[in-house]
Amino acid sequence: MDFSKKTIFTEARSHKKFGGDNLSETDLRAIYELAKLAPTANNSCPLRVVFVNSAESMEQLARCALDFNQEKTRTAGSAAILAYDMDFHTHFATLAPHMKQPTVHSEWPIDRLERFALANANLQAGFMIAATRALGFDCGPMGGFDTAAVKSKFFGDTRWVFNCVVLLGHGDHSALRPRGPRLAFEDACRIT
Ligand SMILES: Cc1cc2nc3c(=O)[nH]c(=O)nc-3n(C[C@H](O)[C@H](O)[C@H](O)COP(=O)(O)O)c2cc1C
Repeated sequence: MDFSKKTIFTEARSHKKFGGDNLSETDLRAIYELAKLAPTANNSCPLRVVFVNSAESMEQLARCALDFNQEKTRTAGSAAILAYDMDFHTHFATLAPHMKQPTVHSEWPIDRLERFALANANLQAGFMIAATRALGFDCGPMGGFDTAAVKSKFFGDTRWVFNCVVLLGHGDHSALRPRGPRLAFEDACRIT
């Protein structure tokens, strides 16, 4: 395990081309075991993950990708489909037994519930990317998929909503363009 700044941040990139190897189930479980520790509001843990880990399932996933992501997806042997669960609040009795009104979220308007789920699932997604890198793998996060197709092929009878796909494996560094600039501290931050 390598939690160094280089591995998780400065030398890590969003990969678009992979070597095609898949991860072991042990590796996939190790990624989740770290990602699940992300902080979320009320410990709500709305992230849901479908790990795609066979050639057949990866081809099914590639067919759900928008044109510009299909070939990228076909280079990877594994992927994580990240979703948020609109029924996340049904787990509060376990996840947040300290909450006084564990059912209150079910009375929220749908857009408020969805914003809450997406915001917190995204925190978990960031942790999942960091965890994957720390465990020695590269990530290729991609949002460009036919969300209805992903749902019908991979989510079954759930209220999971597609968020993004993260390709997993060993990326081809030679296929990367130079990293895009980021906003300077002065442009993005204030100290008061
Ligand atoms: C939520 C999300 C969606 C993305 N969607 C796509 C996508 O559909 N296709 C693609 O090639 N890259 C996609 N990317 C990759 C971004 O372009 C990339 O993370 C960004 O340019 C930073 O690149 P870097 O990590 O190499 O610095 C996505 C990244 C994120 C986090």
